[in-house]
Amino acid sequence: MKYNKLLPIIMVHNVDFMYSNETVALKQVSLNIKQGEFVAIMGQNGAGKTTLIRTLNGLIRPTRGSVFIEGENIALKTIAMISKKVGIVFQNPMHQLFSNTIEDEIKFSLKNLNLDKAEIQFKINQILNEFDLEKFRKRSPLTLSGGESKKLAIASILCRDPDIIVFDEPTLGQDAKEIKFFLELVRKELERGKTIIMVTHNIEFTVEYVPRTILMEAGRIIADGPTQKIFTNEFIISKSSLILPQLYLLKKELEKIGIIIPKELIKEHEIVDFLSSRLNIESIKLKEGDA
Ligand SMILES: Nc1ncnc2c1ncn2[C@@H]1O[C@H](COP(=O)(O)OP(=O)(O)O)[C@@H](O)[C@H]1O
Ligand SMILES: [Mg+2]
Repeated sequence: MKYNKLLPIIMVHNVDFMYSNETVALKQVSLNIKQGEFVAIMGQNGAGKTTLIRTLNGLIRPTRGSVFIEGENIALKTIAMISKKVGIVFQNPMHQLFSNTIEDEIKFSLKNLNLDKAEIQFKINQILNEFDLEKFRKRSPLTLSGGESKKLAIASILCRDPDIIVFDEPTLGQDAKEIKFFLELVRKELERGKTIIMVTHNIEFTVEYVPRTILMEAGRIIADGPTQKIFTNEFIISKSSLILPQLYLLKKELEKIGIIIPKELIKEHEIVDFLSSRLNIESIKLKEGDA
């Protein structure tokens, strides 16, 4: 059955989930995500973010409610079947990597996709090049640095070309260069029509680059909408217990000395443009030169 692209590519309907130790990790979670969206899932530790993304490829089966991927209820599908459509890159790459060499890791991931030998070889070369991992081809994943193993974990999911890509904390512990690489990769995949979900604590990244944010607390979704709306809503901010962006705190400080930056401006370049259009930048530059 071909899925009707007018339907959301992901539909989560009234999902509850309880772990075997009776921890209720998801409570009446519902959400729709359209094809091509880029969505951040945020919230405190223990809010249920990882549990929620695990329901998207069948690793976790809801205690109640249903999950539809590309219009199909996944309840009766195997993880292997769903994983062709939904690729999840987990937080700790070491839980995901287990082959003897980097090359084998990708090869293993390409199994069961009905590719012939030549196609598999082609895809391995292509992905190792794209991720700049070619030089490590014969090395063990255990010998990679944190950043490199994260890259390999992403490569081993992306080589399967899933329509939906889910990242759990992709920027955690990454340096500026690695975050830039991740951002470029996301941009490329979005251009190709992929749908991307990212669980993150990185509010700066979310505010700059992710158009939609879903906020979770204690197993529930407490807010879902345009990132700019979510992070300019005082009530939501006060409930979220997130560490706020420096820019937000700067705005508050500036307000105290009478410089009011419109609420809806939250990105760095927006705030710089606003300030430079209102302050006498020339005089500031002169002062700097004097000093
Ligand atoms: N395997 C598990 N067994 C029992 N409880 C778990 C398990 N994994 C997570 N939990 C609990 O479920 C809740 C949600 O966890 P999780 O989805 O990992 O949150 P988050 O990713 O937002 O930090 C937490 O209370 C956590 O302790
Ligand atoms: Mg988590």
